[in-house]
Amino acid sequence: MSRKITVIPGDGIGPDIIESATQILDKVGCDFEYEYADAGLIALEKHGELLPESTLAAIENNGITLKGPLTTPVGGGFTSINVTLRKHFGLYANLRPVNSFKGTQARYDNVDIITIRENTEGMYSGLGQTTKEDGSEAEAMSRVTRLGCERIVRYAYELARREGRKKVTAVHKANILKSTSGLFLSVAREIGKEYDDIESDEMIVDATCMKLVMDPSQFDVIVTTNLFGDIISDLCAGLVGGLGMAPGANIGEKCAIFEAVHGSAPDIAGQNLANPSSVILASIQMLEHLGMQDKAEKIRNALRDVIESGDRTTRDLGGSHGTTEFTQAILERL
Ligand code: NAI
Ligand code: MG
Repeated sequence: MSRKITVIPGDGIGPDIIESATQILDKVGCDFEYEYADAGLIALEKHGELLPESTLAAIENNGITLKGPLTTPVGGGFTSINVTLRKHFGLYANLRPVNSFKGTQARYDNVDIITIRENTEGMYSGLGQTTKEDGSEAEAMSRVTRLGCERIVRYAYELARREGRKKVTAVHKANILKSTSGLFLSVAREIGKEYDDIESDEMIVDATCMKLVMDPSQFDVIVTTNLFGDIISDLCAGLVGGLGMAPGANIGEKCAIFEAVHGSAPDIAGQNLANPSSVILASIQMLEHLGMQDKAEKIRNALRDVIESGDRTTRDLGGSHGTTEFTQAILERL
């Protein structure tokens, strides 16, 4: 029986790169039934709101969503749709894997790191944000909970085990942020003891950034709080040639949303120029989440072969072809 998943094509280059991904999923015989839903600017135009109730219902009912980039209009007081989705569905784990591909702008040949970022608490909990009327002072509150720390750290170790990874590095700043980062670190140490098959490491966030740039090969799984994870995962994307090659998954108890990490790229939208790799990599994450490892591997190999051989790659990858030709090159290998 086919499995139903929600697909949000999104704005700008979204529909083109999502179509590329669904063609590839179909080609390897995934047998998904796609329920298309609107969000972002297109939803605002069609339904009068950025995130219609029907889209929320589809995400909830199907559990699994593949999502293109969404444009949040500037001005008008709109809150980020991505932040709203994370809160609404309690998507507490943000998984950002990076792998280097030869022939791209990757700084190193052998990067294989996954950052697991706590996605709902910490500096981004939105609590206590005040600015004095005269602009002389501003405050924001960071709040982490034992439960929040436990479930993200446990997620990291379970993923390490599942994926045959060797080491989990807990990234923190407990020397300065003694309460919040301190709680995170002590929970990470406790939970690490339960997994004696996985090496546990801990590192202060600023030193982590330096070491990632100097020698990324010493990292495997990184687990950290919200703000640090946001920054470190982009740094990792930079190590493998930028956001065009970086997917992300947002995972909660009941729902999971898989997405490209970059935005809607309005400057190249509708011109058949977009590189669909990040949304293809997000589909691979989705298949792995669904236990369809064989199909995930097939797609990864085909994508790798196209990129590394330079066969019909897009401009940002140093080629001169479009989204459709690049997709065709992958489909032929499948
Ligand atoms: P962007 O990521 O859309 O574009 C930055 C640059 O990277 C542009 O030059 C663009 O052409 C290029 N680029 C991005 N993706 C590409 C791809 N797949 N292939 C080739 N080139 C690519 O960031 P920008 O311009 O700051 O944001 C545009 C819109 O996207 C904004 O409305 C923003 O709110 C939204 N956005 C949405 C995100 C999401 O839904 N996850 C994340 C980031 C931004
Ligand atoms: Mg970010």
